[in-house]
Amino acid sequence: MDKIIVSGGHPLNGTVRISGAKNSVLPIIVATLLSEGRCVLEDVPRLADVQIIKDVLGSLGSEVSFEENTMMVNGATVDKVQAPYEYIKKMRASVLIMGPLLARFGRAVLSLPGGCAIGARPIDLHLKGLETLGAQITIRDDEVIAEVPGGKLKGGHIFLRVPSVGATENLMMAASLADGETTIENAAEEPEIVDLANFLNAMGARVRGAGTGIIRIKGVDVLHGASHAIIPDRIEAGSYLLAGALPGNRVTVSNCIADHLLPVLDKIRESGATVEINNMANTVTVIGGERIKPVDVTTLPYPGFPTDMQSQFMAYMTLADGTSQFTETIFENRYMHVDELRKMGADIKVEGRNAFVKGVPTLYGAKVRATDLRAGAALIIAGLAAKGETTIGDLYHLDRGYEDLIGKFQSLGAVIQRLDDGT
Ligand code: UD1
Repeated sequence: MDKIIVSGGHPLNGTVRISGAKNSVLPIIVATLLSEGRCVLEDVPRLADVQIIKDVLGSLGSEVSFEENTMMVNGATVDKVQAPYEYIKKMRASVLIMGPLLARFGRAVLSLPGGCAIGARPIDLHLKGLETLGAQITIRDDEVIAEVPGGKLKGGHIFLRVPSVGATENLMMAASLADGETTIENAAEEPEIVDLANFLNAMGARVRGAGTGIIRIKGVDVLHGASHAIIPDRIEAGSYLLAGALPGNRVTVSNCIADHLLPVLDKIRESGATVEINNMANTVTVIGGERIKPVDVTTLPYPGFPTDMQSQFMAYMTLADGTSQFTETIFENRYMHVDELRKMGADIKVEGRNAFVKGVPTLYGAKVRATDLRAGAALIIAGLAAKGETTIGDLYHLDRGYEDLIGKFQSLGAVIQRLDDGT
């Protein structure tokens, strides 16, 4: 199996350019399903997840080309409303195709893993919202079949029990081609929602209020092609900056919107590192302090501290001078990295949604597994700080979300390499 080997203790110093945001580009590529024309997307990161969603669109009939970081999608050729299970099982975000397909074609069929609790937590808000807009949804064996009697969705008032990012995106896309006005209350406010709204509006949609808790969408009859550049990935930026916060390091990220990272930068400052923001140049620099002060973290919907930065921050806190408390409020099972960090000598106790991290003077290189995407980044940060060599396996997750991870860390001076199968 492929693995990453990090040799700890080498100082980082330099600048990395941040790629387009994974969590923006996935819904934006899906949104091209609404368009009757050609769309050009720029700053598209080359990631496994992007490849999957490209294949999903291909399976629906979209013509897609992807060269360097530019993707071209022709929405005019879409002629299917069912995406195969093989794609859906690979990536949860595939569920986003439901809104656009229903809005444009009046029908969408989604294959799901057998026995999966559909209708319960995972996509209940997506489905309930689509029903409010007039869809009839049947769950049969391993399929969700959604149909719109009369063929056209109707605007409606939707209240989201929790501000789900995916549900907000799915419903915003669906409402863009519905008859009349839709209001989404308790909408997610993440920058990726604003990016999607900007793209929808560039295609001729009328979406207002994205980035606040109430989004209003006036449906239009048709959406045309558009060009759009994806916003920078705030989680990728935050991951490199945390590596920069380790004592002895100095990391600058370029193509970074500091405003999107304020809760993370605030915590980095609180921990004793220096943060320099240059809004004109779109750069942020973090310079590690002499010691790391313990800082408590509670994950919250935007503009709170992002759950996608929790594991990386925990890796950093394992070396703090004291105990920090983590509270994960977004996902129930997001402490899988804890066991891996413990293998490196970290002292962490988990009690339900809380984790207590007692700083240790040193981490030691070990054999660990990237249990999920952000856990993988956390283990790299820990490996950079550790004594000795850390070997990270299960790289599949890391490939989903970090473009040119090894090249970017190497350019900062990290001693890190990837070994392919059999080497
Ligand atoms: C998105 C991000 C992911 C991030 C998460 C929270 C993408 C591709 N992924 O995931 O990186 O960690 O936001 O910021 O953008 N929920 C329900 N019912 C639903 C939908 C969600 O109960 O129908 C719950 C989830 O179980 C979870 C919470 O709502 O506890 C937040 O999930 P959500 O915001 O929907 O996350 P995603 O959009 O899947």
